Amino acid sequence: MVKKGELLYEGKAKRLYITDDETVLWVEYLNQATASNGLRKDMIQGKGELNNKITSLIFEALAKCGIRQHFVKKISETEQLIQKVEIIPLEVVLRNIAAGSFSKRLGVKEGKKLSFPIVEFYFKEDSLDDPFINDEHVLVLKIANREEIALLKAEICKVNEVLTELFHKAKIKLIDFKLEFGRLSDGSIILADEISPDTCRLWDLETNEHLDKDVYRREIGDLVSVYKEVLTRLLENEI
Ligand SMILES: Nc1ncnc2c1ncn2[C@@H]1O[C@H](COP(=O)(O)OP(=O)(O)O)[C@@H](O)[C@H]1O
Ligand SMILES: [Mg+2]
Repeated sequence: MVKKGELLYEGKAKRLYITDDETVLWVEYLNQATASNGLRKDMIQGKGELNNKITSLIFEALAKCGIRQHFVKKISETEQLIQKVEIIPLEVVLRNIAAGSFSKRLGVKEGKKLSFPIVEFYFKEDSLDDPFINDEHVLVLKIANREEIALLKAEICKVNEVLTELFHKAKIKLIDFKLEFGRLSDGSIILADEISPDTCRLWDLETNEHLDKDVYRREIGDLVSVYKEVLTRLLENEI
């Protein structure tokens, strides 16, 4: 077992620590929820544990399906070990069904199924409010090259297939989600960060009830009880 070292970075939802193995980081999931790029912030007891559990379970399922990713293991209720990567400053988003900013910007009703899954890039830069960018912005800003852009798109589509099925078994519709990727020291790109109701839009299959962070963003429900519901359904279906 590796030893926990100094704090490397504190984000909005997690703290990252170095370890005595320079290829491994120690992550602590926090009980913090933020909305509007950090403008609204609340401590929510139990959130860290739920997201750690949900993320761990999802990354294990993705590993079984051959997706290259950073998860090493869950080491406590709120902590896990991950492989250290150089994060690519992109939020890679895939949308199956119109919702959120897509609906607002383009005037498409929330809930409309898109004719095929679409991939979007957002430049991950809090000071700029994570602006929406296209492939050419990614190239000109030297965030990734053409081959890497193609790989990011292919990987998120593969992840979408696995997650859509996994959530479907739990009677949940995967509306859209965000991924982050990073580079290992040899330059190869793997999936990193977290996959949880903070980063996915999840609706109940029958009622379309929101089972994700929108309950907090829109103040329409209790975050802990819906995250618990997601975890319970995933466990019941032994993904
Ligand atoms: N495997 C990894 N190696 C290095 N950094 C990572 C890895 N996985 C996630 N991160 C980074 O950890 C930081 C903390 O996560 P989080 O609290 O969600 O941050 P944010 O406030 O940027 O959303 C983020 O900058 C994220 O990109
Ligand atoms: Mg985050």
